Amino acid sequence: MPEATLVIRGGTVVGPEGRQRLDVAVRGATVVGLVGPGLVDLHTHLRQPGREEAETIETGARAAALGGYTAVVAMPNTEPAIDSAGVASEVLALGAGCAAEVAVAGAITVGRAGLALAPLGELAALGVTLFTDDGAGVQDGALMRRALDYAKGLGVTLAQHCEDACLAAGGAMHEGCWSSLLGIPGVPAAAEEVMVARDITLARLTGAPVHFLHLSTAGSVDLVRRAKAEGLPVTAEAAPHHMLLTDAAVAGYDPVFKVNPPLRTDEDVRAVVAGLCDGTIDAVATDHAPHAPEAKDVPFDQAPPGMLGLQTALPIAWSVLAPHLGPERLFALMSSQPAAIAKLTATHPRGGGHSAQGGPLEVGAAANLCVFDPGAATVVDPRRLASRSRNTPYAGRSFEGAVRHTVLRGEAVVIDAEAQR
Ligand code: DOR
Repeated sequence: MPEATLVIRGGTVVGPEGRQRLDVAVRGATVVGLVGPGLVDLHTHLRQPGREEAETIETGARAAALGGYTAVVAMPNTEPAIDSAGVASEVLALGAGCAAEVAVAGAITVGRAGLALAPLGELAALGVTLFTDDGAGVQDGALMRRALDYAKGLGVTLAQHCEDACLAAGGAMHEGCWSSLLGIPGVPAAAEEVMVARDITLARLTGAPVHFLHLSTAGSVDLVRRAKAEGLPVTAEAAPHHMLLTDAAVAGYDPVFKVNPPLRTDEDVRAVVAGLCDGTIDAVATDHAPHAPEAKDVPFDQAPPGMLGLQTALPIAWSVLAPHLGPERLFALMSSQPAAIAKLTATHPRGGGHSAQGGPLEVGAAANLCVFDPGAATVVDPRRLASRSRNTPYAGRSFEGAVRHTVLRGEAVVIDAEAQR
């Protein structure tokens, strides 16, 4: 096995010449791990401002670093929402100096209420490149069309949480055999798919790019596959829980398995994995959604949806996808491709203390790295997670591989799985 040596000075890779492969580095006889670009998460709920009992920007960024991430995109469903330059600036300022870089997604509509457009231009001027009302989809097709027209002019991307509110109303899990058996009202797959289909149509109409958040159904994957074949400017992500867990997990009524979109069927899980393998889905994104114990430990139907994800995403993706894709393509799904969607790469300089994300690891690149040991295991102990919340659906489970080190702009922010910031 080859030994990989990266020489880093002043936060930048200065040697050796040439692009570095994801190789297993060996020091003496000890396998150190795969050296890859730092991971980039397109979908992180950091909860600050407004829900600091569940997470803060500092604790969420630490969880990210421990998961191998060097950048996360903070979702705007905070309180208040990130729908103005003031709130966006506050989040960016709080993110400076954290263990991972924090970019923000702005809201598409004021207060994410779906009624009036947020000041997209003002937010874009701050460097915001992704906009979403995540937690809810933009229900009004005419408003979405107008937002896409503006987005195209501004060179930014709208990311849709695809959920038709009328079809989903009252549902708390996937509508199917398990919801009937358990007596829990269901959300049909169609609630997601009608909005995916509508927004593909709007991408065709406006020519503006659309990014589809957390795809969860076989039908959605198929719609995006066909839209890409047609050459439409669409991208998509999927969350680790939608490539591993099914609605059968809800059988014990444990709210830790409540998430939106909900856990679906075996067939949907297989379709999501197939979509990640054939390039239909561009990125693995965590949808890290911390909820404080007092909020989550209530009856299933009353609990808020959401699961922790940052510290388990890479081991899960490794276990599920690496056998099909190999390390290079897996890392692309978690670093270069999400970085390109969020425009965090070297071709879109951000300034403000932010560096280029997503690799490649070559001379002149920012030294943002993740070292992953495929020979180790990640055993999930909720009490040991860096997040302020404990709502992981993987308590007690073990996954192949573990993040050993994370390097942010040349500084080791995680050493031997211990956070240094
Ligand atoms: O499960 C989810 N939780 N889905 C979302 O879209 C929002 C998120 C949250 O903010 O908790």
